[in-house]
Amino acid sequence: MSGQRSQEWYAGGDRNAYIHRAWMRRGLPGHAFDGRPHVAIANTASALTPCNAHLDEVARSVENGIWEAGGVPLNLPVVSLGETQVRPTAMLWRNMAAMATEEMLRANPIDGVVLLGGCDKTIPSLLMAAASVDLPAVVVPGGPMLTGTFHGVPLGCGTDVWRLSEEMRAGTLTQRDFTASESSMIRSKGHCNTMGTASTMALVTEALGMSLPGIAGTPAPDSRLLELSHATGRLVIDMIAKGRRPSDIMTRGSFLNAIVTLAAIGGSTNAVVHLLALAGRLGVELTLDDFDRTGSGVPLLVDLLPAGRHLMDDLYRAGGLHAVLREVADLLDPEAITVDGTPLAGHLDGARIFDEDVIRPRSRPLLEDAGIAVLRGDLAPHGAVIKPAAASPELLRHRGRAIVFDSVEDARARLNDPALDVDETSVLVLRGCGPRGYPGMPEVANLPLPQKLLARGVRDMVRVCDGRMSGTAYGTVVLHVAPEAAAGGPLGLVRTGDPIVLDVAARRLDVDLPPGELAARSPSPAAAKAYANPSRGWERLYVDHVTQADTGADLDFLLGSSGHKVARESH
Ligand code: FES
Ligand code: MG
Repeated sequence: MSGQRSQEWYAGGDRNAYIHRAWMRRGLPGHAFDGRPHVAIANTASALTPCNAHLDEVARSVENGIWEAGGVPLNLPVVSLGETQVRPTAMLWRNMAAMATEEMLRANPIDGVVLLGGCDKTIPSLLMAAASVDLPAVVVPGGPMLTGTFHGVPLGCGTDVWRLSEEMRAGTLTQRDFTASESSMIRSKGHCNTMGTASTMALVTEALGMSLPGIAGTPAPDSRLLELSHATGRLVIDMIAKGRRPSDIMTRGSFLNAIVTLAAIGGSTNAVVHLLALAGRLGVELTLDDFDRTGSGVPLLVDLLPAGRHLMDDLYRAGGLHAVLREVADLLDPEAITVDGTPLAGHLDGARIFDEDVIRPRSRPLLEDAGIAVLRGDLAPHGAVIKPAAASPELLRHRGRAIVFDSVEDARARLNDPALDVDETSVLVLRGCGPRGYPGMPEVANLPLPQKLLARGVRDMVRVCDGRMSGTAYGTVVLHVAPEAAAGGPLGLVRTGDPIVLDVAARRLDVDLPPGELAARSPSPAAAKAYANPSRGWERLYVDHVTQADTGADLDFLLGSSGHKVARESH
């Protein structure tokens, strides 16, 4: 493709071309329509997505780069999701954002797109959209915020909210100090500074090949982000000239590179769902087991919260993503290309580690076998995941009595009841939190521990859930159980008192009942009552069509690509 798609709208002397041009003329010169590429900047800047609020400034730099290279930049505000603001969960609208963006990219006279994202769901939805339209596309990640401190101690956003609130509940932090820490939590523009979903997806996107090499992890306030945004604007014009599309870049090799990266950085479990959904758009064969197979032999090299100690600022200072990838370069697909048309592996030669506390050399990993473990068994026939790096080693093999909650509300109502028959060996089971049941698969799997156990110093317990966990959270939590209870999964059949057996080394999650007993039960009516049953709107569409977590929780009719052709005129 040579920048000519937009000419299907603008070229010629007929009435329709006149209409398309005339309404765009407000300040654009006549030569803007002479065949030069028109590039959308799919912009998730929004005052209600605080992590992305600075993206308009980033867009200016991208625009300058596009003009400089001879293109026409066009700002296109798209659906934006603020992880901390929207209820019941931003994940409910990831697919809606992807669908809306896909349709607007296809419907408009553009030849390529620069995707501006940051907060958790924004980069995944933009990538899914771009994959289904398959026009030249490149991501600019908005970057992490600078590290705030409270009482002299660095704060990891997300992670330290969980920690401080548990400390307050345990009585070791006053309400006053808890509230006072609030104004120190978010120091600057940018997304969460822990290795949560936003940081993970930015790094993984570069590993997939979908952003300018060297940009991922650049802090949002850093001038270098604007410089690289300008360079991205120039690059997209070259991508359009060469016809380099998402389907050329995101091959199976690129996804395996992303999985290696996910393991080496100790990234969020949410990346599993997003990468599976993205692969589904591209028709790339990728399964849950690929994450275990490819990821579990990869060493954990990055010491960041929530599993470790440091923050995104530190990772950048220590050498950034390329310093990490250089250590595992032998595990990367040597042929998988990036947006610039050359292999990812070729960009790593000059990379160096400047702080071995933050980025460990391959010879001294934090963990030999990182990655995400995929469990199967009586409770998860289609799979479940656990992040061993964020779990307590002594709980990775555990047998305990189930305490079953039918909904988040049920858990909230009973967890702190002093009469609840629970101890630290119990397994907290939370169902009704899958894609269909909640709906939207919220980040609630890391149930707070019962108050009476917290007061006794207990800080972790085995938890099992069909929902997700925030990428900034930690604990021995089995997530994404598939099929979910609301889709008829065996999680809906478990009862309080059943012995649950977790064995991460054996990749098993079972319930120790006589053969056939679980299958002979009928689903709990109380649980079924708690499952979502929306009557209209997006939620109805979502519940009717969402797939399970093990295939990415996309809508069944959004799998694949429709390309970028639009055959019919508007007038
Ligand atoms: Fe936006 Fe964490 S809330 S990245
Ligand atoms: Mg999150």
